[in-house]
Amino acid sequence: MSLILTTAIEKGGTGKTTTVVNLAALMAAEGKRVLVVDMDQQANTTYMLTQHKKAENFYKGHGLVNMFMNFDLGGMDLAPYIHPTNVEGVHIIPSTAQTPRAVHQLDLLADEYKMKNYTFLIHCLANINDDYDYIVIDTPPARDNLTISALFCADEVLIPVRCDNFSLEGFETTLAMILDLETREDVKIDILGVVLTQVERTAAVNLVRQMFEENPEYASVLFKTGIRKGSAVPESTIAAVPVVRYAKKSNPSVDYMQLWNEIKQRLAKKEADE
Ligand SMILES: Nc1ncnc2c1ncn2[C@@H]1O[C@H](COP(=O)(O)OP(=O)(O)OP(=O)(O)O)[C@@H](O)[C@H]1O
Ligand SMILES: [Mg+2]
Repeated sequence: MSLILTTAIEKGGTGKTTTVVNLAALMAAEGKRVLVVDMDQQANTTYMLTQHKKAENFYKGHGLVNMFMNFDLGGMDLAPYIHPTNVEGVHIIPSTAQTPRAVHQLDLLADEYKMKNYTFLIHCLANINDDYDYIVIDTPPARDNLTISALFCADEVLIPVRCDNFSLEGFETTLAMILDLETREDVKIDILGVVLTQVERTAAVNLVRQMFEENPEYASVLFKTGIRKGSAVPESTIAAVPVVRYAKKSNPSVDYMQLWNEIKQRLAKKEADE
């Protein structure tokens, strides 16, 4: 069975995409089979992993939205929507120029099947559950039915937080979104952890870390590893590659490797506790 890891926070620009592409690359480097699902109409993850911009319409007819358009509750062949990436071992269900239609498409499916609009992704992914070790889902900075779909099917949620007030607000609204979903559906959605991103040696970073550490509810979820801000990340964004492949010795790259180790330890501990 795959482990489904969703990266989410309502605030934009906190490092969701950067975290997804780098963790996916690190997982694959260990020989794991990885599927990335790009739920964001910005399609940054798709670009980072394939160099295909949504404007090129490369995946027209075979992207995320098409998977929902051809949804079949009786079972689906997902192969047409899964594509290789430039990172060996990482496949992708890409976001395309058509992705903005996905929100409406999920509402149409909800009408047709008399089911909640956020329950279709989990049915889609059930068809490939044994094909991948990890399914990593990137979400938009929004509280729409795409983000909620990705949270609903998550075994674990990873929340990247940038050390500013608005990101903290985003963190709290994301927690509220998860809690609401748990209450409505009577499910448990595990929070794998919070990772501080774009960390610099500033008072703001220390304050945010302290705020997490001093809050009994938050302290246990904060990862020790923060991802330092580094010039290699913007460069890698321009070059459209994960920084762990492009600049292995850069600060963010070293930190993502350390974060991945910490994630594996946390997952192993959770499994042992179950
Ligand atoms: N560690 C880092 N050091 C320097 N720049 C970074 C780092 N992490 C991310 N960035 C840059 O910050 C910007 C936002 O990062 P990213 O796109 O990963 O955030 P996001 O949460 O996915 O954004 P959105 O909510 O818009 O999808 C990007 O330009 C990225 O290159
Ligand atoms: Mg993003």
